[in-house]
Amino acid sequence: MSRKKISVIGAGNVGATTAQRLAEKDFCDVVLVDILEGMPQGKALDLMQSGPICGYDSMVTGTNGYEETAGSHIVVITSGLPRKPGMSRDDLLKVNAGIVKDVTLKAIAKSPDCIIIVISNPLDAMTYVAHKHSGLPANKVMGMAGILDSARFRCFIAMELEVSVTDVTAFVLGGHGDTMVPSTRYTTVAGIPVEDLIPGPKLESIVERTRKGGGEIVALLKTGSAYYAPAAAAVQMCESIVLDKKMILPCAVLSSGKYDGCDGLFVGLPAKIGEGGVEEVVKFRLSEDESAALSKSAGEVRMLCEAVDRLGF
Ligand code: NAI
Ligand code: 2OP
Repeated sequence: MSRKKISVIGAGNVGATTAQRLAEKDFCDVVLVDILEGMPQGKALDLMQSGPICGYDSMVTGTNGYEETAGSHIVVITSGLPRKPGMSRDDLLKVNAGIVKDVTLKAIAKSPDCIIIVISNPLDAMTYVAHKHSGLPANKVMGMAGILDSARFRCFIAMELEVSVTDVTAFVLGGHGDTMVPSTRYTTVAGIPVEDLIPGPKLESIVERTRKGGGEIVALLKTGSAYYAPAAAAVQMCESIVLDKKMILPCAVLSSGKYDGCDGLFVGLPAKIGEGGVEEVVKFRLSEDESAALSKSAGEVRMLCEAVDRLGF
């Protein structure tokens, strides 16, 4: 049986790190695409030469075109500008919408049956752009953000309680922006509700730090945004698809009827991810406050999608 092919479009920080993590997992071959001449080829060769040391046989190919991506099982879109200090994710809307539209059209022409995972920001709106131009059914298009935001939340809780991150389960829902909804009611530490373990004001400050988690890293790096955890999150989605693990992961998926205010939008919701892509949008019972917060966050995503349409993307 030949290995599944995963194409990663954009070989910058997130794309190259995704390619590295995928290769190290050793369950697929990877094609790395970028417009910069020589750069994806150089990174791919470097990753190939890491194989004998790390013990993986994944083939990694770098290219400036799409021939090599033909027949991809998954296309991960990371191409686009990252945020600079003082820049919101939404400032990126116009330039990245053009890039995401262009690469979606080129990728889908070579891999008409692929599953697309979008990473480019503003995430929820860029997932909408990819869906619109791919012509794929909605279950085959999803965005990566919720796993990252939830990982930040889990990490901060584990740091506070000095426990293993693997004991902390959490879901951050809604759009990938400052109105995202870290649900404290569904957050547990070894099965114990986090609200019983961390006093309210401290927990609220962790929620706030999570909401601003991306910006905190932008301010420190000064030249770009996070990429180690984003790549790890994208790889978890790929793994759940290729290995048909059916993990329940918070991803930007098309909502239809299960969550108030979210209908018709790609927005962060819990979803079962398997070989069919988004196999189910999982319904959580939300409190009135959580439901209102999710609806508000979805409202912001809706405005961005309307801007995308208005700008002609
Ligand atoms: P980067 O600048 O390191 O890499 C972007 C790459 O895309 C560059 O190498 C560039 O040459 C390439 N590119 C630009 N136009 C292209 C095109 N038409 N075709 C192919 N490649 C093209 O940026 P980084 O850090 O990798 O971030 C990429 C995107 O991911 C940004 O939009 C960033 O905001 C977003 N992001 C989203 C996250 C999320 O949670 N959804 C987390 C982290 C980053
Ligand atoms: C992040 O949250 C920039 O969206 C990216 O790190």
